[in-house]
Amino acid sequence: MRAFSPLLIPLFGSACLAGVWDFDISIRDTYRTIQWDLGTPGAAHNLLYDTGSATLWVLDGTCTDKCPNSSKFPRSKYNLTSTGKAYYNTTGSIEYDGGKVFGHLVSDIAGIPGTNVSFRQKFASITSSSWSSLGSDGFLGLASSSIAFTNTTSPFENAMQQGLLDKPRFSIYHGAALSTESNPSPQNNGVLTMGGSHEDVYADGEVQFFPIETPFEVYKANFLGLSGTRHFSGQNKQHASLNWTGAVVFDTGSGLSEIPESKIEAVYNMTPWTYEKLMTGYRPLCSEFNDTWSVSFTFGSHDDHKTFKVTGDQLATPGYEDDEHCFPPFNPWSSSNIILGANWMGNFYSVFDFGSFEPSNYDLRIGFAPLKKKYQPKV
Ligand SMILES: *[C@@H]1O[C@H](CO)[C@@H](O)[C@H](O)[C@H]1NC(C)=O
Ligand SMILES: *[C@@H]1O[C@H](CO)[C@@H](O)[C@H](O)[C@H]1NC(C)=O
Ligand SMILES: *[C@@H]1O[C@H](CO)[C@@H](O)[C@H](O)[C@H]1NC(C)=O
Ligand SMILES: *[C@@H]1O[C@H](CO)[C@@H](O)[C@H](O)[C@H]1NC(C)=O
Ligand SMILES: *[C@@H]1O[C@H](CO)[C@@H](O)[C@H](O)[C@H]1NC(C)=O
Ligand SMILES: *[C@@H]1O[C@H](CO)[C@@H](O)[C@H](O)[C@H]1NC(C)=O
Ligand SMILES: *[C@@H]1O[C@H](CO)[C@@H](O)[C@H](O)[C@H]1NC(C)=O
Repeated sequence: MRAFSPLLIPLFGSACLAGVWDFDISIRDTYRTIQWDLGTPGAAHNLLYDTGSATLWVLDGTCTDKCPNSSKFPRSKYNLTSTGKAYYNTTGSIEYDGGKVFGHLVSDIAGIPGTNVSFRQKFASITSSSWSSLGSDGFLGLASSSIAFTNTTSPFENAMQQGLLDKPRFSIYHGAALSTESNPSPQNNGVLTMGGSHEDVYADGEVQFFPIETPFEVYKANFLGLSGTRHFSGQNKQHASLNWTGAVVFDTGSGLSEIPESKIEAVYNMTPWTYEKLMTGYRPLCSEFNDTWSVSFTFGSHDDHKTFKVTGDQLATPGYEDDEHCFPPFNPWSSSNIILGANWMGNFYSVFDFGSFEPSNYDLRIGFAPLKKKYQPKV
């Protein structure tokens, strides 16, 4: 039986850490996913975990023509089960950078693989999706319920509100594998943890925290500046800094990072390439992503700020037409915010700490720590 007993769960929680859930992270054709079970009996679904959105959705069993499939993976679609209830008249759509989905509200039992934990969760069953290349069955959004699909609570916040977790936090080690053109779905050792964090295993040093801005929608923090250092062969060393303040959003659903258009030239001046060179067709060699250069981002308030450095090699994303060439790490976009995506976040152990299980008492902060050598991503 997978029925949820409200009396037993808290006992398990304190007795044997049942309230800390570790999900293995797979890479399916560049998309990073974890598994959740839905329905009775539970069917496993691979879901893209995304800190930039808040909805749990899965493709509906009836969706064929309106859910085109150019992915290399089979998809496990959701069909209403004996414990499920569909609200066909409660509909909505969600627009992402990479696609748009439309569907209706469903309530059914969610199960956590590898545990006996199950609980009721509302999610969207998707009957139309333009995400044809998506190598997953849906999304698992990790941001605030305030931006989630109509009448749903984001799955992590729902689990906190049901009293199922030990600590009001989730944490991510994205894994050491990188998707490439020649091997887009490598074996991976990443772990997403809900209800706790494993910095003792993965982190090289302390997790450095700074606050998330209110009202909480996505993981947005204050940004204080950027500096870059380049060492040239011989003795020359060049240092530059940009004192611009703004906001930064941490988004695992974005592969690369986005920089406001007005700053993109200045940011590329800290790298081996000018923006103009990239705009006129130059494709960076992956060998140019090396530790002769680095960029450091500073987040937080003037009184309490934290700086995180990454070297060139840590920003390499191979597969820019072939694996000799790497994607330019920063894209320009027409917003005043920075988005740091998986190419930046993958270099750190990240802890998303809500400070409280109660939405009215949330005191959100995010923390990063460099990874121990053996856990650092490499091709
Ligand atoms: C849902 O139904 C579809 C269409 O009949 C089927 O292909 C799919 O395997 C079913 N999904 C599950 C999880 O059983
Ligand atoms: C999607 O296409 C892939 C590759 O052709 C195939 O293996 C998979 O079964 C398809 N999935 C669905 C749901 O049709
Ligand atoms: C849903 O909408 C249809 C058509 O608008 C209506 O006939 C039906 O009664 C509605 N069902 C519910 C459960 O509200
Ligand atoms: C789940 O429950 C069964 C039956 O009570 C038990 O044998 C098994 O060890 C449990 N599994 C986990 C992961 O707790
Ligand atoms: C959705 O939420 C609205 C507003 O709280 C409520 O009136 C409505 O009954 C809910 N619908 C469902 C299907 O839960
Ligand atoms: C940036 O700010 C720091 C600290 O306020 C200051 O020391 C530095 O001179 C500033 N740099 C520029 C280029 O304005
Ligand atoms: C390291 O990158 C620089 C560009 O910043 C490049 O000129 C140099 O050749 C690279 N070094 C190696 C060993 O590839």
